[in-house]
Amino acid sequence: MRRDWFEANRNLWNDRVPIHVGSDFYGVDGFKAGGEILHAYELEEVGPLEGKGLVHLQCHFGMDTLACARRGARVTGLDLSEAGIAAAQKLAAEMEIPARFVVANVYEAVEALGETYDVVYTGRGALNWLPDVSRWAKVVHALLRPGGFLYLNEFHPVTDMMADDSFEIEYDYFGRPEGYFFDDGLTYTEAGGERTEHKDSYEWIHPTSAVITALLDVGLRIELFREHEFSVFGRFPFLELETDGSRRIYRMPEGKPRLPFMYSIRARK
Ligand SMILES: C[S@@+](CC[C@H](N)C(=O)[O-])C[C@H]1O[C@@H](n2cnc3c(N)ncnc32)[C@H](O)[C@@H]1O
Repeated sequence: MRRDWFEANRNLWNDRVPIHVGSDFYGVDGFKAGGEILHAYELEEVGPLEGKGLVHLQCHFGMDTLACARRGARVTGLDLSEAGIAAAQKLAAEMEIPARFVVANVYEAVEALGETYDVVYTGRGALNWLPDVSRWAKVVHALLRPGGFLYLNEFHPVTDMMADDSFEIEYDYFGRPEGYFFDDGLTYTEAGGERTEHKDSYEWIHPTSAVITALLDVGLRIELFREHEFSVFGRFPFLELETDGSRRIYRMPEGKPRLPFMYSIRARK
């Protein structure tokens, strides 16, 4: 694995933040106006958040973190990107929502945060940025109080294998320790593709079995594992969009074969 993966990804994510904050995809104005961005299925799977101490790992610029706060959680968000955390702090101040935001590598979260939580919340394009899920699971375990749980809602690695615009298999399902290197600088929020100044990035594919095994190995009890036939992201150009206020769901057209586009896990300490 190249040693500079972390620096490369941090530069990329710092560049992505201003593009994403202003994008229709994230819809910050609708969110500020009170639009719910957590999907009904997530709210059902994660359960009530009222009064819970929650950490959102890889929180980007904090929208999902603040959405959890609006549901009554005491929230902390952590991300490697200084620009992301600065934007999250600004958003929290503008919305007058109490929240703590910390810049750190996930792998150093225990030291950086110095506290434990009822809920570790993460996903939607988080694990693919991490080279080692076993090490990640140890961090999750250490961040949880006894009785607390991880809620992971992630894009399914089956779709990570495929080309951008077809089901053609381009990448190995079982992943590669060195990850995959990309240098197009394209981000996902703008039709046609906005490009970042820093273009290099490293990503990894983690089979669902690797994620589940990593969580079992640290002693977490898996209470929920679901595969979803929809995505919250327009992963393929032929998916059909349904909107529900500020929420978007993409599905295969009627009559076409369905794939697991996302999965969810709830695992308790
Ligand atoms: C696609 S976002 C996922 C966040 C959220 N679901 C969203 O869409 O806003 C991925 C985030 O992971 C962060 N990230 C990537 N590698 C990380 C690492 N090693 N430690 C902490 N954050 C990391 C990036 O800065 C980025 O904000």
